[in-house]
Amino acid sequence: MQHLMSPLDLSVEELDKLLTLANDIEKNPRKYAHACEGKKLATCFYEPSTRTRLSFEAAMLNLGGSVLGFSSADSSSAAKGESVSDTIRVISCYADICAMRHPKEGAPLVASEKSTIPVINAGDGGHQHPTQTLTDLLTIRSLKGRLHNLNIGLCGDLKFGRTVHSLIHALIRYPNIKFTLISPEELRVPSYIREDVLHKNNVPFCEVERLEDAMADLDILYMTRVQKERFFNEDDYVRMKDFYILNKKKMSLAKEDMIVMHPLPRVNEISVEVDDDPRAAYFQQAQYGVYVRMALILTLLEVEVC
Ligand code: NCD
Repeated sequence: MQHLMSPLDLSVEELDKLLTLANDIEKNPRKYAHACEGKKLATCFYEPSTRTRLSFEAAMLNLGGSVLGFSSADSSSAAKGESVSDTIRVISCYADICAMRHPKEGAPLVASEKSTIPVINAGDGGHQHPTQTLTDLLTIRSLKGRLHNLNIGLCGDLKFGRTVHSLIHALIRYPNIKFTLISPEELRVPSYIREDVLHKNNVPFCEVERLEDAMADLDILYMTRVQKERFFNEDDYVRMKDFYILNKKKMSLAKEDMIVMHPLPRVNEISVEVDDDPRAAYFQQAQYGVYVRMALILTLLEVEVC
């Protein structure tokens, strides 16, 4: 039985197969409409979510399966003090696969060790968010036609943004990837990413503070929200929250074929005036998230569709 805790749980070949399956689902949705009939997905969300939880649910419903679950710690037995290990043992009796989001780093991993059904990490604290990474990779591969030879600008909260951490881990496995890390001093990538992931693997990267200085060279601009819930101090959040605002003027500095991505939710970091720019790919990205989660559910449940 396979779980998904980190994008690195899948080899490049497995990932390639999964993304190809997601593209086939996109083209032939009817072929997959009954693939998971009789199967149940449990969504155990101890932290708020719109896209991730609903896209998992939509994915399972699109496959003909059913869904059950909870959407906040308060509405689960966690409020009574139950451990994730006990919760997953019980959920294993009710469902065939589980997607879990938790504010504590490592909680889905702890759950997976006691689980008798596949567990998917749907975001653990500031650590990892592998299914957002699958979504991002599918978006990049579908819109740019490749996952290599890319200069990727990651902008915003690179310290707490788990989507950024997972994406860096996943992309360094492809040839000729360069990162431009755009953040205020206080929100730079954690040193374990800079040292253990980027330096150790000789991945070229530069760190800049001004978005304008980076725009012209980027193939992809990945914007992120300042992660309010991870700040210890409200004043620091208020100081940082509007540090970057992508607008038409800044977009005019970018390549014609650059794409703008964002895991969403957006707060102020992308002005709505950018939404009509053909390079804005963030809503399309949310759609790719459903296809890739469908592919992931099929893969982890070992369902073959001919
Ligand atoms: C991201 C998350 O939860 O980390 N959202 C998502 O899953 N689409 C990004 C965020 O909350 O800023």
